[in-house]
Amino acid sequence: MTKPIVPEIDHVLFTEEQVNQRIREVAAEISAKYRGKDLKLIGVLKGSVFFLTALAREIEIPVKIDFLAISSFSNQRGAPGVVRIAKDLDEGIEGEEVLLVEDIVDTGFTARYLLQTLAGRGPNSLAICTLLDRTPRRIVQVPVEFRCFEIPDHFVVGCGLDYKQLYRNLGFVAVMKPGA
Ligand code: IMP
Ligand code: MG
Repeated sequence: MTKPIVPEIDHVLFTEEQVNQRIREVAAEISAKYRGKDLKLIGVLKGSVFFLTALAREIEIPVKIDFLAISSFSNQRGAPGVVRIAKDLDEGIEGEEVLLVEDIVDTGFTARYLLQTLAGRGPNSLAICTLLDRTPRRIVQVPVEFRCFEIPDHFVVGCGLDYKQLYRNLGFVAVMKPGA
């Protein structure tokens, strides 16, 4: 069904059906874990937007959403970046159950920085939910509470993930051709 028509794409790693199925399963885990509470989903712009909205639609407890944007000082994938917040949350998170929603946890630098920053604002709980977890490239250890897929060390696009800002809107996750 999802025939890639993008020249830079090598192969599809997870089809739209597989992605949607895993999102439903992880949403069920989240609903069970936070049952009886309200949950705040915090999305990291722009990559997590597609995953966050799909996830939120499947969660069966009341959710609030907020977004932040970060800028990383290294454009080079592989070079660990110095991370800072480029757009902060609209509202505080004190006393709330907070789930940081990421497209991918790679080296872990972004996630660790955001966890440390958000923890300082006094949430009642704070955890990470990521669509993709690329553990082979992890440099700093971060606790990943919920993940849809673990992936090997290939650059991927789709479901919010971009290559030069393109391909975020693909419904599937695909591996880029080497050297693309
Ligand atoms: P980390 O700080 O190394 O964990 O970086 C995570 C960020 O790098 C993600 O939020 C993405 O924006 C970006 N990134 C890492 N790997 C990929 C990839 O395979 N495709 C697209 N973006 C990626
Ligand atoms: Mg990102």
